[in-house]
Amino acid sequence: MADLTCTTPFLLYPSLVIILFFYSINHHNRFISTVVDDDPSCTPLSSSQAVFSSFRLFPFGSSSSNSSSCLTTLNNNNSTSEVVVVEGEVDEAAERIEEGLAMARAAIRKAGEEYIRRRRNDSDLGIVSSGSVYLNAFTFHQSHREMEKRFKIWTYREGEAPLFHKGPLNNIYAIEGQFMDEIENGKSRFVAASPEEATVFYIPVGIVNIIRFVYRPYTSYARDRLQNIVKDYISLVSNRYPYWNRSHGADHFFLSCHDWAPDVSAVDPELYKYFIRALCNANASEGFTPMRDVSLPEINIQFAQLGSVHTGEPPQNRKILAFFAGGSHGEVRKILFEHWKEKDKDVLVYEYLPKTMNYTKMMDQAKFCLCPSGWEVASPRIVESLYSGCVPIIIADGYVLPFSDVLNWKTFSVHIPISKIPEIKKILEAVPEEEYLKMQKSVLEVRKHFVINRPSKPYDMLHMIMHSIWLRRLNVRIPLSQ
Ligand SMILES: *[C@@H]1O[C@H](CO)[C@@H](O)[C@H](O)[C@H]1NC(C)=O
Ligand SMILES: *[C@@H]1O[C@H](CO)[C@@H](O)[C@H](O)[C@H]1NC(C)=O
Ligand SMILES: *[C@@H]1O[C@H](CO)[C@@H](O)[C@H](O)[C@H]1NC(C)=O
Ligand SMILES: *[C@@H]1O[C@H](CO)[C@@H](O)[C@H](O)[C@H]1NC(C)=O
Ligand SMILES: *[C@@H]1O[C@H](CO)[C@@H](O)[C@H](O)[C@H]1NC(C)=O
Ligand SMILES: *[C@@H]1O[C@H](CO)[C@@H](O)[C@H](O)[C@H]1NC(C)=O
Ligand SMILES: *[C@@H]1O[C@H](CO)[C@@H](O)[C@H](O)[C@H]1NC(C)=O
Repeated sequence: MADLTCTTPFLLYPSLVIILFFYSINHHNRFISTVVDDDPSCTPLSSSQAVFSSFRLFPFGSSSSNSSSCLTTLNNNNSTSEVVVVEGEVDEAAERIEEGLAMARAAIRKAGEEYIRRRRNDSDLGIVSSGSVYLNAFTFHQSHREMEKRFKIWTYREGEAPLFHKGPLNNIYAIEGQFMDEIENGKSRFVAASPEEATVFYIPVGIVNIIRFVYRPYTSYARDRLQNIVKDYISLVSNRYPYWNRSHGADHFFLSCHDWAPDVSAVDPELYKYFIRALCNANASEGFTPMRDVSLPEINIQFAQLGSVHTGEPPQNRKILAFFAGGSHGEVRKILFEHWKEKDKDVLVYEYLPKTMNYTKMMDQAKFCLCPSGWEVASPRIVESLYSGCVPIIIADGYVLPFSDVLNWKTFSVHIPISKIPEIKKILEAVPEEEYLKMQKSVLEVRKHFVINRPSKPYDMLHMIMHSIWLRRLNVRIPLSQ
């Protein structure tokens, strides 16, 4: 919690409320519900009360703010004239951006208030019934609109492919390359024309390629080479430009689906204290912090084939209670196999799918699809289940689900803690048919948020990832020099 007090070098703005709006309004879906965990060690950042009590309201654009001691570089009135000029330009541009963000916060807040007002009014409840796949549809849609209007990403130009500016477009780490390509091919509406226009700064490190090219042949798994490359890059851009220093990295992000990506910041917690990390490996027990970090969906993109949504079988034709097929990676799968591998006629669990069976078809015919953690908490099966119209069963502890600051995962998935793996069948058989049908319908409704389009379209997966970063950016207010 100490991270969120007003002693931080940037000002925490009441917009903290905004993220919390997505939780607090729906009493059953407080922040804590986004962390799939029963482990109390995950709760420090999760309790909305704690967050509320620890932040202070700062007047917008206040010139009498005593936080000047924090504004080390911007208040440095004593450096070379060249730097002073840069700072002057930056400040004016930064001020405009902050004004824009303040308007966005106000609009989102207003939408949230509208939601509360309507909730009080029984006759209006239809729109946002409790079964909604959104925690708060009003704030989400408003926030998405504001993002489309104002969100601009500047990608640093330094560094050369393949270690920078390049990522995989296929297979399970594909989201890293797809996002990078979307931003770097220059066609996205979210590309900033200049750094002065940027709301966020992208550190374009290709984590997957760094591991592929620098570590091969794999003689060592020590993370230091990876850590040094990223740290050197940040050091380079923070020496060359004022942007990192003025926010202590709070408006900077990187994005990677690789299992090792969270380790990048382990080498220097102070440097990365406010840095936004967009990760598939979103393990709250390993330092993933939902208020600052972004959980990415893992998606396995086959060659030249963006996410192919099909409808699967209608619910009444889904005769298989639960299905899983996959390698024995990690502890969770070991437990799953121990109890269920080829042992039951309703809960079908395979390590190697028999040649006579078709993986996609099985998912299309199953009511529930098991998505256990592998080497990391995330699993590409979650997206595959949604595409197949199969209700995902999340078997992962400490996993912060993607987009869980806007989506109400409880309406379209079931979480089974690792300790309850032996009871999978009992738990799933106990789900009333009516509830299953509702969840299945919600799966079909929510999957548009998990589809990749190139170029990206409103509300699709890439837009949702941008929106997750946008929300983290809304939560900080970069200090002004005046
Ligand atoms: C802020 O500044 C005012 C006067 O400028 C001073 O009275 C007050 O003690 C300061 N507060 C802090 C926390 O430094
Ligand atoms: C910077 O220095 C100039 C001249 O020394 C002074 O007039 C001005 O008030 C200073 N600005 C700040 C922000 O301290
Ligand atoms: C400029 O910096 C020097 C050394 O860092 C310091 O002694 C001096 O007081 C500063 N001047 C102003 C106007 O801040
Ligand atoms: C509740 O809804 C009805 C019908 O839409 C409307 O006439 C009424 O003014 C609403 N009441 C409040 C308090 O918003
Ligand atoms: C940012 O801070 C670092 C370390 O404090 C410093 O070395 C660097 O010169 C600063 N960058 C700029 C542009 O002032
Ligand atoms: C598996 O089933 C899917 C959907 O019915 C179909 O598109 C695909 O071609 C099948 N794959 C194989 C290897 O038969
Ligand atoms: C998540 O982190 C905890 C703590 O380090 C670890 O025990 C657990 O295995 C991790 N989960 C996965 C699936 O890697």
